[in-house]
Amino acid sequence: MQIKNICCIGAGYVGGPTMAVIALKCPDIKVTVVDLNAARIAAWNGPLENLPIYEPGLAEVVEKARGRNLFFSTEVDKAIDEAEMIFMAVNTPTKTEGEGAGMAADLRYVEACAKNIASVSKTDKIVIEKSTLPVRTAEKIKEILDSEGSGVHFEILSNPEFLAEGTAIQDLFKSDRVLIGGDETKSGQKAVQALVDIYANWIPKEKILTTNVWSSELAKLASNAMLAQRISSINSLSALCEKTGADIEELSKAIGMDHRIGSKFLKASVGFGGSCFQKDVLNLVYLCRHYGLEEVADYWHQVIKINDYQKDRFAQKIIDHFGGDLTGKKIAILGWAFKANTNDSRESPAIYVAEKLFKAGAFLEIYDPMVSKESIFRDIDFYWEASGTEDLKSRISVLYPVNELDLSNDATAILTECEAFKSLDFSNTIVFDGRGILSSSIYSIGKG
Ligand code: NAD
Ligand code: UDX
Repeated sequence: MQIKNICCIGAGYVGGPTMAVIALKCPDIKVTVVDLNAARIAAWNGPLENLPIYEPGLAEVVEKARGRNLFFSTEVDKAIDEAEMIFMAVNTPTKTEGEGAGMAADLRYVEACAKNIASVSKTDKIVIEKSTLPVRTAEKIKEILDSEGSGVHFEILSNPEFLAEGTAIQDLFKSDRVLIGGDETKSGQKAVQALVDIYANWIPKEKILTTNVWSSELAKLASNAMLAQRISSINSLSALCEKTGADIEELSKAIGMDHRIGSKFLKASVGFGGSCFQKDVLNLVYLCRHYGLEEVADYWHQVIKINDYQKDRFAQKIIDHFGGDLTGKKIAILGWAFKANTNDSRESPAIYVAEKLFKAGAFLEIYDPMVSKESIFRDIDFYWEASGTEDLKSRISVLYPVNELDLSNDATAILTECEAFKSLDFSNTIVFDGRGILSSSIYSIGKG
């Protein structure tokens, strides 16, 4: 079966770049990315320098494919109706209320997509889980899709996305693997092959891995959990380094040179952030508890606990340095996004560290070359507890551009590995380095 028309529901960090690359590599396939968020779609259709997300190389890909075979639209029903293959790339955040609140994935957006597809479709479709989902979600999606009883046949595949933000385009061009899970039935295998054929336009065949649906769904959660676990492992050791005089960078290098362990994801930090690791590990913990696997759940939960400990430990170091009270102290926060080279600040450690410093009385000057003042204040309103009790703006300023930064203050906290920070003048400040990027600072994570 040769696919000619693809629809992707969700024009976010995954849907946008992933579909742009499919459109670039498959010029004969029409790819329409739809979203209910009209402002986001308008930005995808607007000037290349203002695309709704920042990713190195993304604008170039969009420039080549947009208007040729790549389209962004709010006409969700029309795109579903016309497509033979539909990707669901909507958000699956941690639930905030109801059963499983604070742990389980909120599937309401995925379920809404499935209902939409069920009600609009008049011809057979291949429906693809691109969002990260709990194992066995395909069962629930199938139930929803088949509930209309319209006689339309839906084949569900799992095709989780492994891109990391900041390197999304490179990750999509040269994926370590593309994972496709499908039913072992004849129609299931036909659908798998249709998707394999699309990726085979640029991904070597040996890197396209096909499995059953449940393995594919679970492999995504497990991959993120393993990556997060490595970071929590090294971060836990950074605390021991600080007590013993061992140096975390030397330790990481020594450990990583063992080819069985490998050197990646062993960089100590103020903690991992981003929209995926915490949400996916919590979801894994929830699933384990659901299946009565308490020991397994406790094991994975510890990854999150160490991450919280690390963020808290870093902020406390600064507070302790000033005798437990930051009243009147001026502190610069360098880096608001969850890592360098992205404008995404979801679950960023900076949000937690800044809140703790603010509550200890500090005046904060926040700087991130990628994140706007509006986004920073939106995060503060959203994430901080009881942020409405005080006029925050009287003790928080957001600076831009970098040459406005005057680091003649009481302290500076470095929270991302942004290149621009390395050349700043730190001679009139006390640096707390949460990313181990400066050679001289009063406190550097994992250095005694
Ligand atoms: P996102 O919030 O950036 O984008 C999701 C988009 O879906 C939003 O624009 C939203 O308006 C839209 N949407 C929600 N419900 C809709 C509906 N019913 N109809 C139309 N549009 C709808 O999310 P994201 O970061 O792209 O993540 C999407 C999924 O991919 C999540 O499951 C996430 O875990 C997974 N994932 C994310 C990353 C990443 O780096 N961000 C990497 C791999 C996997
Ligand atoms: C992650 C996964 O890497 C990706 O495969 C998945 O599809 C989505 O989730 P992402 O969250 O975009 O990607 O970025 P990643 O590079 O994994 O970084 C996550 C966090 O871990 C960041 O806060 C980063 O600074 C931190 N990190 C990463 C460390 O603290 N130390 C490391 O050694 C590596």
